[in-house]
Amino acid sequence: MKRKFFVAGNWKMNGSTSFNEDLINFFNQAEIRDQNVEIGVAVPSVYLSNIVNNLRKDWFVAAQNCFKNEKGAYTGEISCHMLKDIGVNWSIIGHSERRIIFNESDELVGEKCEYLLSQGMKVILCVGELRSERESGETKQVCLRQLKAATEKLKDWSNLVIAYEPVWAIGTGKVATPEEAQEVHKVIREWLRTSVSATVAESMSIVYGGSVKAENCVDLGKMEDIDGFLVGGACKYM
Ligand code: G3P
Repeated sequence: MKRKFFVAGNWKMNGSTSFNEDLINFFNQAEIRDQNVEIGVAVPSVYLSNIVNNLRKDWFVAAQNCFKNEKGAYTGEISCHMLKDIGVNWSIIGHSERRIIFNESDELVGEKCEYLLSQGMKVILCVGELRSERESGETKQVCLRQLKAATEKLKDWSNLVIAYEPVWAIGTGKVATPEEAQEVHKVIREWLRTSVSATVAESMSIVYGGSVKAENCVDLGKMEDIDGFLVGGACKYM
């Protein structure tokens, strides 16, 4: 079965009411020629409701993060129940900016990932190595460590998308070559095949993120195990 191509724009901490309005109008008029593609935007939480209400309905809206409990004394956090309440059923989890700037551990990312999936949310789980880890030959080990920690107790893999985002390629303009990205995507798919099941390995969307733009996406997208993109700066949110 051919996997559906998957493209999501991660706005990070960018946008404003008026800017979003222009962008959404632009998106709503865009003609999508290939129907076998799933498209969405991950927007700052303050704008989620507005974008859910105004974005075309064939695209999805995602949160950029979400906590691992239903409710309670977690100042500054949002729950997946709140997200579902406003019509959002996707969230990014484990983005390297969360892991590095906000000290999110593999364990916390795993708890979030499992909780959200258990509550019927769809999750884009990010994994990826630092430049120093790549240089010391640890890319495979780091990505699989993050992946294992996030999925240890997972029973149902159907609502998961895995994003390989090498940290050295994020926001740097230094995109991984199609071969470099393919090598890691293949490692991830092989791990899924041997550790989970052939069905999960074949159906899993493994997308690439890190300085993706119009000029490099075609070649990356031709690689066998690259099923789409998680795009930052090229979303034109700035
Ligand atoms: O989540 C997307 C991201 O981290 C990649 O960002 O700006 O390198 O496309 P960018």
